[in-house]
Amino acid sequence: MNLDNYLKFLFNLNNPIYYAIIFTVLIIFAFYIFQKYILSPKVKKHNIQLKEIELKNAKLMALFSELDPEPLIRIDIKGIIILTNEAAKEIIKTPSLIGLSIKNIIPEINFSIENIIRDNKTKVIFRTFNKKYFSITFKGISFLNIVQLYFTDLTKRRLFEEKLNSSQKQLKELMQHEQLMVEGEKNRIANELHDGIGQNLLFIKASLQRYSNKLKLDLGEETFEQLLSSFDGTITDLKSIIYNLKPSILEELGLGAAITTLCQTFTDKSDIKSNVDIIGFEARIDSKQEITIYRIIQESLNNIIKHSKAKEFTVTMIEENRNIKILISDDGTGFETSNKNYLLPGMGLRSIKERVESYSGTFKIESQLNSGTLLIIDMPKKVVENV
Ligand SMILES: Nc1ncnc2c1ncn2[C@@H]1O[C@H](COP(=O)(O)OP(=O)(O)OP(=O)(O)O)[C@@H](O)[C@H]1O
Ligand SMILES: [Mg+2]
Repeated sequence: MNLDNYLKFLFNLNNPIYYAIIFTVLIIFAFYIFQKYILSPKVKKHNIQLKEIELKNAKLMALFSELDPEPLIRIDIKGIIILTNEAAKEIIKTPSLIGLSIKNIIPEINFSIENIIRDNKTKVIFRTFNKKYFSITFKGISFLNIVQLYFTDLTKRRLFEEKLNSSQKQLKELMQHEQLMVEGEKNRIANELHDGIGQNLLFIKASLQRYSNKLKLDLGEETFEQLLSSFDGTITDLKSIIYNLKPSILEELGLGAAITTLCQTFTDKSDIKSNVDIIGFEARIDSKQEITIYRIIQESLNNIIKHSKAKEFTVTMIEENRNIKILISDDGTGFETSNKNYLLPGMGLRSIKERVESYSGTFKIESQLNSGTLLIIDMPKKVVENV
């Protein structure tokens, strides 16, 4: 195309480019008109309505503040008190609160007032005013550039909590005391069995041996030997009863040795293999807590023998700085723990739970049918009283 033809094409009114340009300009113009005369006024009106609602709310809030029976204080962005209600004046016995900095009244404030206004955040502080205990909620309100302080009287609740804590403490002490009484009684019975029946049995055995020649003639050698061995059996049984009542090794050598011996005894009488892992416990811990842990492990092993059909069990005891962790696991049948019904059939697990809770510890059972059982016990170490 030469220049002549090109210019003709360009300035020809039938050229489609002109139509496209005119169409685009028209659309932009129409959009401009829509934006200016329809959309913008609507947005403006909406914003004005929003501001009006917010203002109304603020006014309502202000009115509410005056009437509220709970103390209310309003501060500005610099933390200066600008409004208080009657209830606030009553609890903060300062003649004129308006104009004072809130930090003079509540020095515990450890956050930026500007930030909680900017982010409309809420912060809570607890403190006592005029012998009453309050929670103070700081609520930042950005569009008014203020913080509103709401006071809630928690005195009654606090007293109730203190009472609850003290009765929980008493309950724990009672549980520990009960355990102690039971252990004391076991100790007494063990001593009596040892010094009374035990000594008598030994005396009778010695007499049997002294008169063995005559008795063998009278009874026959075989009957005499049977009599003697059943005597030995009875003495061994009695010793084991006495040991269970009063594990002397615990007193003499401490928890580590006692638990190792206990596990070995269970293996000997059940043929279930035992693994013992004791970390720490080189020094003695509180004697009452030693007995508690011993009884817990003894009861757990009783359950393994009675219920688990396990081939192996493991006892792990870990002594930490302030805590004691005990894990007792077996590879036996396990049992259903999804509901707490397992606490119903007997006394064993319940007594473990009570013993652990009397030391403010936690007791967990993880068990499933055919996948063994794991008991997890965590308890704070008691301050040693017996060293
Ligand atoms: N290691 C375990 N393996 C399988 N089942 C167990 C195990 N330990 C506990 N159980 C189940 O939990 C139940 C509750 O145990 P718990 O020790 O409280 O009572 P118990 O052993 O039946 O009776 P008690 O301890 O009073 O002689 C048991 O009856 C048993 O079904
Ligand atoms: Mg049991």
